[in-house]
Amino acid sequence: MADIQKVASGIPGLDDLIEGGFWPKSTVVILGSSGTGKSTFAIQFLMEGIEQGEQALYVTLEEPPEQIMREADLMGFDMRKYYEKSLFFIHLKGRNFKKMIEEQLPQLVKARADYNIATRVVIDPMTPVIWATTDKLEQRELIGKLFYTLKELGVVLCTVEEHAKPGETVGEDVLLPIYLSDGAVHLEYYPIGGAFNRTLKLLKMRGVHHGESVYPYLFARGVGIVVRSSPTHIPEEQSRSHIKTFDEAIKTAEAMKAPARVIDRIKKMQKHWDYDYSPEEALQILFSSYGLKRGG
Ligand SMILES: Nc1ncnc2c1ncn2[C@@H]1O[C@H](COP(=O)(O)OP(=O)(O)OP(=O)(O)O)[C@@H](O)[C@H]1O
Ligand SMILES: [Mg+2]
Repeated sequence: MADIQKVASGIPGLDDLIEGGFWPKSTVVILGSSGTGKSTFAIQFLMEGIEQGEQALYVTLEEPPEQIMREADLMGFDMRKYYEKSLFFIHLKGRNFKKMIEEQLPQLVKARADYNIATRVVIDPMTPVIWATTDKLEQRELIGKLFYTLKELGVVLCTVEEHAKPGETVGEDVLLPIYLSDGAVHLEYYPIGGAFNRTLKLLKMRGVHHGESVYPYLFARGVGIVVRSSPTHIPEEQSRSHIKTFDEAIKTAEAMKAPARVIDRIKKMQKHWDYDYSPEEALQILFSSYGLKRGG
C-alpha cells in the first residue's frame, strides 16, 4: 500500500489530516448545510488536478456550466480557461437520472477510461439523485451504481446537502451516501462571528488513520477553503499592514522557488483579502501544504 500515490485534495491543511490525500479511485462525500462551502471544496479539488495536467469532470444536475463558472470566478477560480480543454461538464437535466446513470453514463465513462488520463470527478450537488426516488433500496442502487461507474476514472467527490441544524447529528437522508462512500467530510457553520466560525470534521476515510478532531477552516478568495489542521503560531502583527504580510510572503515564496501557481495563489489572495483579521495563519497553512517551510 505504501507505494500507492495519494491524490492531493487541493485543500490547504486537509492532506495533513488524511495521510497525504485521497486514495486513487475512491469516493468522497462532502456534507454540509447551505453555504458551508461544499461547492468551493469541489472546485478547489478539481482545480488542483487541472493545474497539474489532470482532467476534470463536473457532473451537474441543477446549475448549468455557465453559472458554475461564473460563481467560481467570483471565488477567484478561473475555470473558463480550461473549459472543454481539460474541464468537462456533464449536465444531467430532467428527472430521468435513473436511465442516465444506468445507460448513458457507463458508455461515456468507458469511452474516457480507454484514454487512461488521470481524472477528477465532482458531482455537485448529489442530493437530487438521492431524492429521485423515495425507495431506499432503489436509492442505494442508484448511488452505488453512480459511484461504481465514475470511480473508474479517478477520485469521485460528491456534495450532499444537509438539513440538520449545527450540532445536531447528521440527518437520515444523508446517511446512505456516507455508507456507500470511502470517505466523508462534514462541514459546519456556526454563525457566531470571528475568523474561524466554520469547522471541518472527518466522519470517515477508509484505509486512513485520519485526524479525529474538529478543525476550523476559513475562506480565502483565490485559494478557497483553508483548514487549520494544527495550531499555528501567529507572530505579533505590530501594526504591520496585511499588504506587507503578503508582499513578504510572495518574496519568501519566490526565494524558495515555489511553483508559479502557488505564488499566483498568494497574489490572488492578496488582491482579495478584505477581512479585518491577519492573513498570516492562512498563509502559513498554504505554505506548509505545498511543503514550503517559512523561517522567522
Ligand atoms: N472568499 C470568501 N470569503 C468569505 N466567504 C466566502 C468566500 N468564498 C465563499 N464564501 C461564502 O461561502 C458560501 C458559498 O460557498 P459554497 O457555494 O461553496 O457553499 P455550498 O455549501 O456549496 O452552498 P449550497 O449548498 O448553497 O450550494 C457563501 O455563503 C459565501 O459567502
Ligand atoms: Mg453548492
